[in-house]
Amino acid sequence: MTALPSPMTESGDLALRIAGLEWGVGGLTIVKDIDLTVNAGEFLSVIGPNGAGKTSLINLISGVYLPRSGSIAMFNNDVTNMRPADRTRRGLGRTFQTSSLFPGLTVGENVRLAAQAALGGSLRLFTAPRRDDQATARAEDALERVDLANRRKDVVSALSHGDKRKLEMAVVLAAEPKVLLLDEPTAGVSVEETQPLVGLIRDVHQSGTTIVMVEHRMEFIVDISDRIAVMHEGKILTVGTPAEVMADEEVRNAYLGGHR
Ligand SMILES: Nc1ncnc2c1ncn2[C@@H]1O[C@H](COP(=O)(O)OP(=O)(O)OP(=O)(O)O)[C@@H](O)[C@H]1O
Ligand SMILES: [Mg+2]
Repeated sequence: MTALPSPMTESGDLALRIAGLEWGVGGLTIVKDIDLTVNAGEFLSVIGPNGAGKTSLINLISGVYLPRSGSIAMFNNDVTNMRPADRTRRGLGRTFQTSSLFPGLTVGENVRLAAQAALGGSLRLFTAPRRDDQATARAEDALERVDLANRRKDVVSALSHGDKRKLEMAVVLAAEPKVLLLDEPTAGVSVEETQPLVGLIRDVHQSGTTIVMVEHRMEFIVDISDRIAVMHEGKILTVGTPAEVMADEEVRNAYLGGHR
């Protein structure tokens, strides 16, 4: 054994390794020199004021944006310039800050499309080769996990905000992600509907999924996270346990003090 852990061993335990990540628009740098690692099975939350660059970071990890410089590795595979669909195939899932559902389709159709896409099948709804049976089974599992199986025939536009958020989780779970990025999963959800969503996110994490979550609700974040990363003006100010972050003077001044 050497004094330093070998890169293979060290990165084998990392779900994500982000180094020197930089992104911007025109002359503006929006994400600045981000270094961040996420352990396999970890629950990491990202907090920070509006406009800090949290969604931009999620967009970079999921491949919606390509960085100007820096790198992103997932389970030791470089994904820096990989297309979003290829990242999905490798086990990366994400939800969006605003709804990404097909509002005119039913609950069941939305999840089945996601399952079909994840299995590499066609995106047609009413084909019935074997692959689609598998897709239907996967879709059904995902709907049961989020407790929406009894709503499968309902059109999405008839769902409450909380149920839409659950359905978005089902859509992403149908692809069986190993790493899940959640961008404000409780945004727009009423207080009564928040608890079931939080329970669902906890279940997904406890089943072994690595989670990176952007959120604003501090009680939820402190309760569920292994570590919290604080973003401010495109940079990561600090990363630590919830207790460390809550006690950090700089964080209090930059974020928590002015937030509530
Ligand atoms: N595609 C884009 N084109 C131009 N500016 C962008 C783009 N994406 C993000 N920005 C800008 O980058 C900054 C960071 O935005 P981002 O959405 O990442 O912040 P955020 O931390 O997610 O904020 P919020 O808490 O409001 O969701 C903002 O000033 C935003 O206007
Ligand atoms: Mg955002």
